[in-house]
Amino acid sequence: ASGHGGARTGLRFEPVEPNTDDAVTIPEGYEQQIVIRWGDPVLEGAPEFDADSQTPESQAGQFGYNNDYLALLAHPENRRQKVLVSNHEYSDEPLMFPGYDGDNPTQEQVEIAWAAHGLSVVVLDEDRRTGALTPVVGNELNRRITVSSEFTVSGPAAGSDLLKTSADAEGTTVFGTLNNCAGGMTPWGTVLSGEENFNQYFANAGQVTDPVAKARLARYGLSGDASERKWEQFDSRFDLLQEPNEPNRFGWIVELDPYDPDWTPQKRTALGRFKHEGAGPRLADDGRVVVYMGDDERFDYFYKFVSDNKMKSGSGKRAREHNRTLLDEGTLYVAKFTGNSPAAEIDGTGTLPSDGAFDGTGEWIALAHGDESFVDGMSAEEVYVFTREASDKVGATKMDRPEDVEPSPKTGNVYIALTNNSQRGTSGKAAADEANPRNANKHGQIVELVEKNRNATGLSFNWNLLLVCGDPEDSSTYFGGFPKDQVSPISCPDNVAFDPHGNLWISTDGNALGTNDGLFSVPLKGESRGQVKQFLTVPVGAETCGPVVQERHVLVAAQHPGEIDGASFENPGSEWPDGPGSIPRPSVVNVTKRGFGRIGC
Ligand code: FEO
Ligand code: CA
Ligand code: CA
Ligand code: CA
Repeated sequence: ASGHGGARTGLRFEPVEPNTDDAVTIPEGYEQQIVIRWGDPVLEGAPEFDADSQTPESQAGQFGYNNDYLALLAHPENRRQKVLVSNHEYSDEPLMFPGYDGDNPTQEQVEIAWAAHGLSVVVLDEDRRTGALTPVVGNELNRRITVSSEFTVSGPAAGSDLLKTSADAEGTTVFGTLNNCAGGMTPWGTVLSGEENFNQYFANAGQVTDPVAKARLARYGLSGDASERKWEQFDSRFDLLQEPNEPNRFGWIVELDPYDPDWTPQKRTALGRFKHEGAGPRLADDGRVVVYMGDDERFDYFYKFVSDNKMKSGSGKRAREHNRTLLDEGTLYVAKFTGNSPAAEIDGTGTLPSDGAFDGTGEWIALAHGDESFVDGMSAEEVYVFTREASDKVGATKMDRPEDVEPSPKTGNVYIALTNNSQRGTSGKAAADEANPRNANKHGQIVELVEKNRNATGLSFNWNLLLVCGDPEDSSTYFGGFPKDQVSPISCPDNVAFDPHGNLWISTDGNALGTNDGLFSVPLKGESRGQVKQFLTVPVGAETCGPVVQERHVLVAAQHPGEIDGASFENPGSEWPDGPGSIPRPSVVNVTKRGFGRIGC
């Protein structure tokens, strides 16, 4: 009777209507529960959150700010527990601190922000009757990784002069990780996390005079004098005039082993340095690992890494140690997309070309392998550290902000969220092409990339646009060929994930249709391909991150609730999740079907 009985397995729910409510809204028949909020205790001895008396020490033992990527893993020993891994992308000081003065932050505020960044590992108890997930404070697997945690630099650029600083003459040890956005799970059970907009933490790029250094800084968005958060006032490594190489030590994919707290997390230089959104690993048929990656900037690129060596199966110590070396040796490629319709038919309006599809072929251009560079005028070390410059030289395709990517565990096809690009087709910028077909692109698109002969390690691929996002009544949108009067509007796709049935789930950031962000499902096969349905919405000012879609759990990270113009600690833009009179707290939400049933069944 509910009108969705014919939907594909995993997608039988009544869609949520777009709204502007300060709440998480979920379908009929589902329940929601807050798993953990910014400031909730994680480590032994950490105090409960107290908005008015935060300290760096308490924050270092509590859940960090702005949860983004989530992984929900089996516990290695206890079947009644799960292991949650969360990124903490950035701190939002005016919303975090009473009386915050952005020109003169206190040392304590800055140190709290350092401790609010990074990652958390938190063991959760699972209630087998309701599906509720509750943190086990002080569990031996629980960890907080912050701006002060030690990382080892690995791979071909480790030890490069470009990575040496006065604190690290070897160029192999970095304290901290910054702006960790999306991520991915390796087939051997470690977590990859992308260091994205690291440029915002460094001061005084505008005072650098050497033209080569200046151009490199500019290509990574480093400019101006004081940094936004003024960290340089409290640690000289954030001042480029004192530590010119410190920014080169951020912008990497980091690998963390949530099951092995004794293993130092690694920055994997073989995967290149850019504004890493996330990483989508896949095992190739021959046992090598392939990692797909986006560089989230207008007109930046899409990449893949192919390992030299094969994964060893099994969960034993020897296999694990071997597999944790796979991302250090391999080839880094950047993508070139070519359309198959006449250029004259791609007019920037989003009107489908006469062959009825935005589609075409593509090639993977090799940039470097180990110590060997394939880019004229650049050493291999330079290719890894200044990867954007290398891709500029080889003619890669400038994309509409490549965000998260996920290969389908069923088919191996790769789904890339291109979130938007307000500058496409504007003066002096690249015009629309078949993969990025709308000028002043406000709503983004989803690319489906199919490796040729299904060979993930190969050099060529086919591609098409699964979705051209926006209001379905807008003629520039496309929903995989599905009738547009039967889909949910969707704008600014950011994170992508798969459910166990092979359906794609998409979360949004910055919905340009005037309603809150949310989480959407879309089938990829058969007659329902392209039928976008909204599963939930997040509170005012929040973006929807994380998503984890398992048989009986949907987890989302509601990031930066209340982040709207003019909002502050004193004048909050949201009171979620704690309710009237409280400040907003980024939180992880667990959605279950009533009775802990199967999602969408
Ligand atoms: Fe941190 Fe590209 O989103
Ligand atoms: Ca075409
Ligand atoms: Ca993101
Ligand atoms: Ca985003």
